[in-house]
Amino acid sequence: MNPFKFGTIVEDEYFTDRVNELAQIKELLNSENHLVLISPRRFGKSSLVARALRQIGRPSITIDFMKVLNVEDLASQILRQVFQIHKFEKIKHLMKLFRVVPTLSFNPVTEGMDVSFVPSVGKPSAMLEDSLDLLEKVSSAKNRLIVVFDEFQEVNSIDKTLAKQLRAIMQRQKGLNYVFMGSQESMMEEIFEKKKSPFFHFGERMNLKKIPYEDFYSYIESRLPNMPAERKAAITEEILKFTDVHPYYTQQLSAAVYNAIEYSKVKENPVAHAIKRQVEEHSLDYERLWANMNRTDRKVMLALANRRNPMTDRSMAPSTLFSAIKRLLKQGYVIKTTGYELEDPFFGEWILGN
Ligand SMILES: Nc1ncnc2c1ncn2[C@@H]1O[C@H](COP(=O)(O)OP(=O)(O)OP(=O)(O)O)[C@@H](O)[C@H]1O
Ligand SMILES: [Mg+2]
Repeated sequence: MNPFKFGTIVEDEYFTDRVNELAQIKELLNSENHLVLISPRRFGKSSLVARALRQIGRPSITIDFMKVLNVEDLASQILRQVFQIHKFEKIKHLMKLFRVVPTLSFNPVTEGMDVSFVPSVGKPSAMLEDSLDLLEKVSSAKNRLIVVFDEFQEVNSIDKTLAKQLRAIMQRQKGLNYVFMGSQESMMEEIFEKKKSPFFHFGERMNLKKIPYEDFYSYIESRLPNMPAERKAAITEEILKFTDVHPYYTQQLSAAVYNAIEYSKVKENPVAHAIKRQVEEHSLDYERLWANMNRTDRKVMLALANRRNPMTDRSMAPSTLFSAIKRLLKQGYVIKTTGYELEDPFFGEWILGN
């Protein structure tokens, strides 16, 4: 068994640190406030919130806005989630006043309820309002429901008026906590920081950072295969230097290094070996991404791959460089932490090698 895990929500022994963040989230959700959790992709938002929810122990539902097609689909998904935590029999009386009657069917495979609103039948806004109102009704003061909206930056691309509709309903709701998560920092900021946005300052904002170096260091070191302590320390440092402590890529590279040592019996430079393998595996994707970038984008990417500040490039106008950086940030190839950096260190390695 590989002791490193990536690509899914991590819990229990695969989850490290985040002690302060957990305490902060728990405190917030014990009040009447809402949480806005922002970070670049794959920093650990979902894992953190899942852990907080488990520790809090109150009922919750989660909607992934990336998987919402339109307003009536959002309403359907909300109901479907409600039926996962409440027996239909017990709450059907609450649905008597629904203006549009959803189609319900029992799914014997999942033993859950399939729900759908027929789009042509009624007004999507009524469907949404009734579904959100149901959330308030199934929530109790002692056991307040927590509603998680993941990838919330998608809200405006689902429907231009969705944010406004949601806000109008949500602002009069009581006895519910909402958690908004998003990974497109600039878009999340537009939604929650722009005065004109319906969600302006709707919740308490938390920007999730990387996991502290020392913490990740002992996490990796304690899991590497048996070997002399000095070698373990050197390998751990090399991994963290390459990934710059990015949560996902650190777990990914650690897993690959573990495999190289334990199964492929690589004796010399297991980290370099693992990096090379990862880069080769993704080289077709990287080639395609590179081909779609313009010259300025490529210059910025190259500077960042060399861990240089792209703004120091004197061969281009600062404004041109800056708009390239903004574009790359928006597309997720570049992230901003203490400075600008490449989101994917393996892509950086590919750029340098090519
Ligand atoms: N607390 C943690 N301890 C150890 N590894 C972690 C932790 N948080 C995240 N990771 C690593 O990062 C990966 C991504 O975590 P997660 O899916 O929770 O992030 P996310 O921010 O929700 O990502 P996305 O932007 O894709 O939704 C995990 O699979 C794991 O490898
Ligand atoms: Mg997530």
